[in-house]
Amino acid sequence: MSGELSPIDKAKFVAAKRACDFVEDGMRVGLGTGSTAAWLVRCLGEMVRDDGLRIKGVPTSSRTAQLARDVGIEVISLDEAKWLDLTIDGADEFDGDLNLIKGGGGALLQEKIVATASDQMVVIADIGKEVQHLGAFPLPIEVIPFGWQTTQALVEETLISMDVLGRNSTLRMNGEVPFITDEGNYILDLRLNRIGNARQLALVLNQMPGVVENGLFIDICDAVVIGYGDGRVEVR
Ligand code: 5RP
Repeated sequence: MSGELSPIDKAKFVAAKRACDFVEDGMRVGLGTGSTAAWLVRCLGEMVRDDGLRIKGVPTSSRTAQLARDVGIEVISLDEAKWLDLTIDGADEFDGDLNLIKGGGGALLQEKIVATASDQMVVIADIGKEVQHLGAFPLPIEVIPFGWQTTQALVEETLISMDVLGRNSTLRMNGEVPFITDEGNYILDLRLNRIGNARQLALVLNQMPGVVENGLFIDICDAVVIGYGDGRVEVR
């Protein structure tokens, strides 16, 4: 399946493959979104087809749902599953405390709901996603389209008053039009460079009217499977 891969794709592939060891027969598994998570879904599909693995998958986006069905994984909704044994997902950044920035693929809302409803969350990532401090990757904030510019101004004013940010957020675009999430919302990407108190920032953001969710995953991830371009894998 992996063929001739670039070092970055190899790193993503080996992390995804190793994370399959966490999956046991009969589990209800949250399936993440993004290029690394897509490797996971393909690997699990292969295990369903070739090894008779029986799992029920809860996808975190319409893209992942389509891929999971295509590779033969039984897909159910979170409401059908109610609670999950395990979620495996990618990340845009992870730090030494296994806190994350997610949402680069625009699926942070479903990803956070699904991960939070799981006994265990395992992140799969290439080593390039490791950071000393979260924040170099722009922080995605999912906002309601109604009055989004007012919400953006409120976010910026509040963060300036906390000494966190200059006026430095942009509406995520899909060509000429705003990017729309699976839930019909917009995404603001906040350039912060370095987040001092990620826990506090996550709480403050989610208290603002118009903000649906933010991409900081604090105390949600239990383990990170890190892939390297030479095929090595490390679990933390
Ligand atoms: C999607 C996500 C992804 O997990 C994150 O963007 C990492 O993506 P990739 O595996 O393609 O690097 O949070 O919302």
